[in-house]
Amino acid sequence: MPQSAIRPIEWVDGEVVILDQTLLPHGEESVRCTRVAEVAEAICSLRVRGAPLIGIAAAYGLALAARGDEASVMGRVTRAADLLRATRPTARNLFWAIDRMVSRAEAGATADELLREARAIHEEDAETCRAIGDHGAPLIPQGATVLVICNAGSLATGGIGTSLAIIRAAHRSGKSVSVLACETRPLLQGARLTMWELMRDGIPATLITDGMAGTCMARGMVDLVIAGADRIARNGDTANKIGTYSLAVLARHHGLPFYIAAPMSTVDLSLADGSAIPIEERGPEEVRSFSGSPSAPADAPVFNPAFDVTPTELVAGIVTERGVMTAPYEKSLPA
Ligand code: MRU
Repeated sequence: MPQSAIRPIEWVDGEVVILDQTLLPHGEESVRCTRVAEVAEAICSLRVRGAPLIGIAAAYGLALAARGDEASVMGRVTRAADLLRATRPTARNLFWAIDRMVSRAEAGATADELLREARAIHEEDAETCRAIGDHGAPLIPQGATVLVICNAGSLATGGIGTSLAIIRAAHRSGKSVSVLACETRPLLQGARLTMWELMRDGIPATLITDGMAGTCMARGMVDLVIAGADRIARNGDTANKIGTYSLAVLARHHGLPFYIAAPMSTVDLSLADGSAIPIEERGPEEVRSFSGSPSAPADAPVFNPAFDVTPTELVAGIVTERGVMTAPYEKSLPA
């Protein structure tokens, strides 16, 4: 199937149709949302996930909420925005998309115009992904193996992904490139989603457990690491899926470049550094189980932060739709 065929979210006949990512790779089923509360539930439960895609889902959720009596669009959009803001705290794109929709509503946009805005956010993200791929592809040497974590592909964006866009662009340009994918405990986005995407594309990919990354680097099996991002502070500190920080430290120890790939909508210039990035903590059952089956004592105490922060000094570059930013990020990101 061609790369563009993965459509994790679509607006169809007045409904938001979401590919339920919790069922992948063994089930390909969609949920159809007619109310913003259903979109919020899909975001909280990770049926729809990945920072840019969460933003797109929220935009469509607001378009749903806007429908009805035109005189009270603003009230419905405000209530829906509050609901959606409370779903997942770390992904900057969620708040960026909500703010963009709310400011259109404040300017008097109709429900139809808000739907057009949501579609524009979706389409622009596809273009952004293409640009990230084109800017990042030259960073991958011929014959390289790229280590990735979580899923920063078509299932996380409105297009071909962020880190996976770079790998796809390099592959498409004729380079020989292969991937080592960390399974990404506890919810296995790497095993379930990244492997599914790459295998569909025919890009050589090997699955490892998260704890194997160090030994793979020590054995010379990795040439570079590319991770996505949920929120990037002004100084380049980057929140991404839990385990990313460990990979960055390992990469530094082994002298390997560690890159971040993300749209500018993930950059939060209001935060001076990563210490102020809100980190989502999720329920204990995710860690006490493996793929839905209990894997620990039922009452085992659990710590379950969904993201960690990689300090800027470990980041060799941030690939955005505007190009590859390098340190000092306080200068390159705002510029
Ligand atoms: O909890 P998730 O699956 O939403 O986490 C996703 C990630 O950490 C991704 O790497 C990030 O959102 C970038 S997606 C282009």
